[in-house]
Amino acid sequence: MEFSSFGKSFSSKAGIVQLMDDLGNALSVNKSMLMLGGGNPGQIPQVQARFRRRMYDILEESDRFERLIGDYDPPQGESRFVEALAALLSREFGWPLGPGNIAVTNGSQSASFMLFNMLAGRDDAGAARRILLPLTPEYIGYADQGIMADMFTANRPSIELLDDNLFKYHVDFDSLNIEDDVSAICVSRPTNPTGNVLTDEEVTKLVALARRHGVPLILDNAYGTPFPHIIFTDATPVWNEDVILLMSLSKLGLPGVRTGIVIASEPIIRALAGVNAIVNLTTGGFGAALTVDMIESGEIISMSKEVIRPFYQEKADKAVDWIRSALAGYDFRIHRPEGAIFLWLWFPNLPITSAVLYQRLKERGVLIIPGHFFFPGLREDWPHRHECIRLTYSQSPQVVEKGIAIIADEVKRAYDGG
Ligand SMILES: Cc1ncc(COP(=O)(O)O)c(C=O)c1O
Repeated sequence: MEFSSFGKSFSSKAGIVQLMDDLGNALSVNKSMLMLGGGNPGQIPQVQARFRRRMYDILEESDRFERLIGDYDPPQGESRFVEALAALLSREFGWPLGPGNIAVTNGSQSASFMLFNMLAGRDDAGAARRILLPLTPEYIGYADQGIMADMFTANRPSIELLDDNLFKYHVDFDSLNIEDDVSAICVSRPTNPTGNVLTDEEVTKLVALARRHGVPLILDNAYGTPFPHIIFTDATPVWNEDVILLMSLSKLGLPGVRTGIVIASEPIIRALAGVNAIVNLTTGGFGAALTVDMIESGEIISMSKEVIRPFYQEKADKAVDWIRSALAGYDFRIHRPEGAIFLWLWFPNLPITSAVLYQRLKERGVLIIPGHFFFPGLREDWPHRHECIRLTYSQSPQVVEKGIAIIADEVKRAYDGG
């Protein structure tokens, strides 16, 4: 048996698949590994209790459960959920949208896979069309999603050094070229892995650039507002017909129900629903069922702002304090934590690469992700790629504090020539 080129490239991808295998193996060999590597959201008892109660309501409500497990939804997503979300977004932000602007997918990961390959790849004339990532580091999960090889092209950021060992990436508009082969621009905001939140000015400029070039701007809002609202700045949410907004129920605490949401112009939503029908028939309905009441009542917004955001903000603040005291006197920088569930650490001129640091930390029972994986599409070699790591602070404080102490120890050893 031989796989097709699609089968080969999707089953033997070097980066992410191998890394995930490595992380999984490390965990199965050593159950007490300190897992600061994954992207799993934290366990928030108050939120879990709310969804548990909602599940009881579903079970008790006449034939609601039987319909949930027994009916296919339309390929665009469950109608009541789509209508409730359109009403919430127009009420909350004044966006001119209706149910025809929303599609529900099996996770936003599958939404980006479908959209990237609908927009980029080979066109009818055989020419290559690409997705531009205007600011890397960017989400590792995009890296291998192109059916066509080399589907991403990317830009280095500019770096603003801030007080207190912080720094912030910005889109480097001076070097951002939108070549003729670019068919969409994509950014996550808040950004996985850095916790960056693009400024309103940057987003406005990207929207204008995208419009000028007649391509959509894909804004990945998996951590953003109005839910789960893991965003610590006052960034203005943006949607108009030039924007494709991706949302997700995962970081609300529901990664297991696999629900992503796409908000876009009606022609894009119709096309996406068609692709979804071909690939999945339709989307699983559990996420919609668990949240539709909260979307109708607006509780999803209050829960996000009053429970979810403070939960992560407190964890981020604590982790930053632990890093600062553990690495005092050494050359380190933390990307200003503005949202998402990660800290991005930069060790300028570290004598070892982040890949070696990852191995050393794994041997000492701590899992992080080395930074070089987060530059999909960036062709040039840039030493900075090998000087950064991503760690997740959503785990318990004991795990995070212990993990940070070991990371600091290894980083100091490396700087000291060990
Ligand atoms: C920026 C970003 N986008 C999309 C996803 C995919 O989320 P899901 O498929 O669970 O909705 C993630 C998951 O970690 C993410 O960090």
